[in-house]
Amino acid sequence: MERPKIIRISGIKDEAEGIKTIFLRHSMVAKPGQFVMLWIPGIDEKPFAVSYSDQKKGEIGLTVAAVGPFSNRLSSMKEGDKVGIRGPYGRGYNLGKNSKQLVMAGGGYGSASLTMLAEEAVSKGCNVKFILGARSKARLVYADRIKKLLGSGNLIITTDDGSAGIKGFVTDALKNLFKAQKVDRVYACGPDRMLKAVSDICNENKIDCEVSIERYMKCGFGLCGHCCVDPIGIRACAEGPVISSAQAAKISELGSYHRVKSSRKEKL
Ligand SMILES: Cc1cc2nc3c(=O)[nH]c(=O)nc-3n(C[C@H](O)[C@H](O)[C@H](O)COP(=O)(O)OP(=O)(O)OC[C@H]3O[C@@H](n4cnc5c(N)ncnc54)[C@H](O)[C@@H]3O)c2cc1C
Ligand code: FES
Repeated sequence: MERPKIIRISGIKDEAEGIKTIFLRHSMVAKPGQFVMLWIPGIDEKPFAVSYSDQKKGEIGLTVAAVGPFSNRLSSMKEGDKVGIRGPYGRGYNLGKNSKQLVMAGGGYGSASLTMLAEEAVSKGCNVKFILGARSKARLVYADRIKKLLGSGNLIITTDDGSAGIKGFVTDALKNLFKAQKVDRVYACGPDRMLKAVSDICNENKIDCEVSIERYMKCGFGLCGHCCVDPIGIRACAEGPVISSAQAAKISELGSYHRVKSSRKEKL
């Protein structure tokens, strides 16, 4: 097994309420959608999507939402503190050869990997509409980064409470987009229920779609089997985290339950 490389945190950026980006001086080529395993010695090791990648500077960013013991600890770390990193792992997004009209649908920190994908898609001449969803205005991540990249006309904001953009869910905006324009391909990352809904809508409309699924991971590279999903046995860390909506349709646990550290099933 690859040993974690110990690195000092080179910078920290507040992205939104309870959400920060941790920057690490680390030369790594990660495809949008791939993830790294981040180790805090004495605490735990958890997967995080790469949200920024600056090859020239040799720096990557990981965007962290503080929701539990590990992420709270990571969010409280300071510049100069040491963490361990290994990866990148997993299957990233596939831009597809003939897909020009793309839609990215991101919920919460799920926009991390999608923003990197949007950057790559724009550099390859694709047209991108980005649906950025959050619980509230204060929890919106990357709105300025996406506006700068795509122009404000290509950013659609949705919030559950209506404090910014359209009041409603990412899926409401997606359905409206399908009525308004041609869409070749959809990419989604966010909470499980959102992924299940996006994948179902795309399957119903016969539109190619990839979703990035999140499951509890231990090894991160296909060995331990902890991240297998019912009933098809795809390993989220190896065959995923990015899978097609056709594969997503076969996963009975998507949007319904997941396995925690002890392997016990927990309702979502
Ligand atoms: C491929 C992959 C990529 C990931 N990328 C990121 C990333 O870019 N940024 C990031 O912050 N995390 C990411 N995660 C999740 C991350 O690995 C941890 O699971 C997360 O930080 C929570 O760990 P914890 O120990 O702090 O909390 P836990 O003890 O695991 O969770 C605490 C509580 O919060 C709930 N919870 C967990 N996640 C969320 C959430 N997102 N919103 C609301 N409640 C939640 C849990 O159900 C639990 O009740 C990713 C996971 C995977 C598999
Ligand atoms: S985390 Fe070990 S196989 Fe996926």
